[in-house]
Amino acid sequence: MASVKPDIRDIPADRIPRHIAVIMDGNGRWAKKRGMPRLFGHRAGMESLRAVIKACVEFGVKYLTVYAFSTENWGRPQDEVSGLEKLFHEAFTNELLELHKQGVRIIHLGQREGIPQDLLKEIDEAVDLSKNNDRLVLSVALNYGSRNELMHAVRRMIADGLKPEEITEQKISEYLFTAGIPDPDLVIRSSGEQRLSNFLLYQSAYAEWEFPETLWPDFGKEQLLEAIAEYAKRDRRFGKVK
Ligand code: IPE
Ligand code: IPE
Ligand code: MG
Repeated sequence: MASVKPDIRDIPADRIPRHIAVIMDGNGRWAKKRGMPRLFGHRAGMESLRAVIKACVEFGVKYLTVYAFSTENWGRPQDEVSGLEKLFHEAFTNELLELHKQGVRIIHLGQREGIPQDLLKEIDEAVDLSKNNDRLVLSVALNYGSRNELMHAVRRMIADGLKPEEITEQKISEYLFTAGIPDPDLVIRSSGEQRLSNFLLYQSAYAEWEFPETLWPDFGKEQLLEAIAEYAKRDRRFGKVK
């Protein structure tokens, strides 16, 4: 039987994930397959991100969180790191007005220290300009690592003088970079790799996971819809019985 392509109109609104998080993986392999430098893949990956943001707005997803650069990614070759920095500059400046027009609010997740000052300034400007938008909340995890995030949370809880009994699961959530953002319902990692790589460790405790084989530069609206259709079939039990 030929598989039928999913149609967004067939998915009940309450089955659409409110928050999708994406580990955008496979840019390097995509470029290598074409005999091109890794940065060529990262550049192509930007197009995928643009398409996925647009599709999320269209499908009514309210929160999209994307893993753009991990605390471990600084360990890559210097030319790749500086090429990615350049790409982030372009993204935060060139794409900003279009995103703003679409009603996208931009949030940064990650440690500020370590991000070059000029890029940080552009990120802050994007966050500030878009702060009243509410069509879609786009959280960009850049210089992000879950362990680093938990370290900062613990440091700030101690600095704020919290008493042991004041530290609840909810309180920890409030001290993470993702404070105020609901936990992800669906986490997608492209390229077939099946690991967390230090992404949303605390927040995705009860997320549904999908690992499509598609390399990130080949990922777009259609693949997102397939992922949502698959999610819509899942039975989330949260440890309980129905
Ligand atoms: C993900 O693609 C993008 C970043 C980590 C910035 P990769 O660069 O990890 O691509 P692969 O995994 O090497 O194919
Ligand atoms: C995770 O991918 C980070 C991003 C997608 C930004 P990596 O490619 O860095 O992760 P590993 O090294 O395969 O675990
Ligand atoms: Mg990778």
